[in-house]
Amino acid sequence: MADLGNDSVETESLRAALIRHLVTEGTIHDQRVAAAFQAVPRHVFVPQAPLDVAYADDVVLMKRDGSGVVTSSVSQPSIIALMLEQAAIQPGDRVLEIGSGGYNAALMRELAGPTGSVTTVDIDPEVTDRARLLLDESGYGDVAVVQADGAFGAPERAPYDRIVVTVTAWEIASAWLRQLRPRGRIVVPLRMRGQTRSVAFDRVGDHLESRSTTLCGFVSMQGAGANYERLVPLGELELTFDEDQAGEPHPRADVLALPRLQMWSGVQVDREEPLLDLYLWLAGTLPGYCVMSSGEWSWVAAVATADSLAYLSTRPASDGSYVELGCAGHGPRAPELIDRMLDQLRTWDARHRNGPGPSFQVHARADELPAGFHIVRRDSYITVTWAE
Ligand SMILES: C[S@@+](CC[C@H](N)C(=O)[O-])C[C@H]1O[C@@H](n2cnc3c(N)ncnc32)[C@H](O)[C@@H]1O
Repeated sequence: MADLGNDSVETESLRAALIRHLVTEGTIHDQRVAAAFQAVPRHVFVPQAPLDVAYADDVVLMKRDGSGVVTSSVSQPSIIALMLEQAAIQPGDRVLEIGSGGYNAALMRELAGPTGSVTTVDIDPEVTDRARLLLDESGYGDVAVVQADGAFGAPERAPYDRIVVTVTAWEIASAWLRQLRPRGRIVVPLRMRGQTRSVAFDRVGDHLESRSTTLCGFVSMQGAGANYERLVPLGELELTFDEDQAGEPHPRADVLALPRLQMWSGVQVDREEPLLDLYLWLAGTLPGYCVMSSGEWSWVAAVATADSLAYLSTRPASDGSYVELGCAGHGPRAPELIDRMLDQLRTWDARHRNGPGPSFQVHARADELPAGFHIVRRDSYITVTWAE
């Protein structure tokens, strides 16, 4: 399907090396996904990038807003591959992509095959104009490119067997659920309590059930589905709460200047061990949970009250590759907050650390929710459950 007219020995060999990397590191398992990566000339979709950058396993930034925040990119190949594996697009599928760039739409067009179809929607006309041009140039002229707020899907071409969202979303928009076929699948980088996971959900009746999750990072959704977080300045740091935690109090910005109390849990973790499952466990069990951060990449689980704050801390363990988890706090209620957090650290360690991790369900109505930790969104409810 692709027009490889301007392909060269060099781009072919760079592309083959990228695919070898994705297979070797265990990102690509599905032969059909590998074949799609082989077919689509990635360099065409990032014309400004040198060839080695176009074929590196790295994101290519395309646009920043006035304050320097990245608003558009052509995603990192390994994230794209993980999400395509999650989406399991079948020949003949009707696919909707939210967030365009052209490259991923072309890959999905390969996977959907001659009897399938791909529609890609972006809120930014500059992005859709470029995607249209580059898709035409590379032989994917039958991908439909729509300029609109993806929070409303693309009703004119619904229903879809697969919806793949390539921008961080705080919830499953009700339009996506309406436009998804019964037993269809939606893959979405879902942000909950300050962390983002790509979740593959299957539609089961009127609700969604997660089938797989993988950690990821994307630019944030603009438009009607934007801004579900509340930022509270704390000196040079900040606390982040989700919109449904509007009633949660927080301490004054100078709370960190109060004397610091520190306690340790006895729970040791490998320095490299991802702790996002632990963080989500704490989010579901500790009232006042929030994320304390300094800049975009450094953040830690915390619990806040009107006068006190406690947060996760670590110290080197006897084995140098391990650290012990603890909790530090400031303010009159610090001892109580620290006790609670240490209790939950130990519970997670004993009951969930080696388990399958959390599962997620999404419902449109409050009266049909299963038991679990509920995150309330504008259009829907996310339920988090943990197998014992
Ligand atoms: C990471 S880029 C998409 C990458 C792309 N899928 C690719 O092929 O690599 C995210 C895109 O989402 C778009 N976006 C942000 N908010 C949106 C919204 N509400 N509806 C549709 N697109 C949106 C941005 O303009 C940006 O181009």
